[in-house]
Amino acid sequence: MAIIIGGLATSHIPAIGGAIHNGKQQEPYWKPFFDGFPPVQNWLKTAKPDLVVVFYNDHGLNFFLDKMPTFAVGAAAQYNNADEGWGIPTLPPFQGNPDLSWHIINHLIAQDFDITTCQEMLVDHACTLPLKLFWPEGPCPVQVVPICINTVQFPLPSARRTYALGKAVGEAISRWDSNLKVAVIASGGLSHQLDGERAGFINKSFDLEFMDSLVTNPEWATQFDSLTLVEKSGTQGVELLMWLAMRAALTGASGRVREVHRNYHIPISNTATGLMAFAVE
Ligand code: DHB
Ligand code: FE
Repeated sequence: MAIIIGGLATSHIPAIGGAIHNGKQQEPYWKPFFDGFPPVQNWLKTAKPDLVVVFYNDHGLNFFLDKMPTFAVGAAAQYNNADEGWGIPTLPPFQGNPDLSWHIINHLIAQDFDITTCQEMLVDHACTLPLKLFWPEGPCPVQVVPICINTVQFPLPSARRTYALGKAVGEAISRWDSNLKVAVIASGGLSHQLDGERAGFINKSFDLEFMDSLVTNPEWATQFDSLTLVEKSGTQGVELLMWLAMRAALTGASGRVREVHRNYHIPISNTATGLMAFAVE
């Protein structure tokens, strides 16, 4: 059976792609953010996942406001990145794994999740930038199964439902008849609000409490409804739902996780940036 080796979570911000492209990692503005990654990159060199399941939110590249699935699972052999209008360079295509995609899809449907299946799917910065941050050298060395969670247009899935989705995805991976090693990635957050009266809103104490909860009490954030999460983390900070899904996916098997590394830095663009890595023991 496939093995889940661990989980990774990072913020995504289009400007990161520009900073990588222009080699700005050591500049004072960017250094505290990029300095978080080498310990995680080194751990990945040892843990060597073959495949990653990426929880992220599409920002209008693949789904627009006219058709917005709550949960969507990629089932393609290849995923193309495309110009999103941020001026960041487009990354080469990513290899999928349709066998795992359909296994996850079948398991989720059997568990009463009404998901959208995508045999073609463009992947935006939220899916591609974490892969570049975790594997900065050369082409992406892992296969990718992308899973979109809507945090863009109300109504959003609840934290409780998102946690249940992550748990079911973890179960599916663990029951997949394969000898591949899988890591689960979350892309998004932490607190930020790009628009409206509270534009620029950041909530450090909530972010740190949330990060701590993922270590010791992963269900903690399921107590909050969507509007409370917006109040606490900002209109785009609700992307932290991806972190919750990732952590829930690690709760199967032994259920024991070890925190490998974390970093927290304010701000990049308008966002409080967080990074966490967990090894499944
Ligand atoms: C920013 C953050 C995001 O999550 C995003 O998708 C786009 C922009 C930002 O802080 O600039
Ligand atoms: Fe975003």
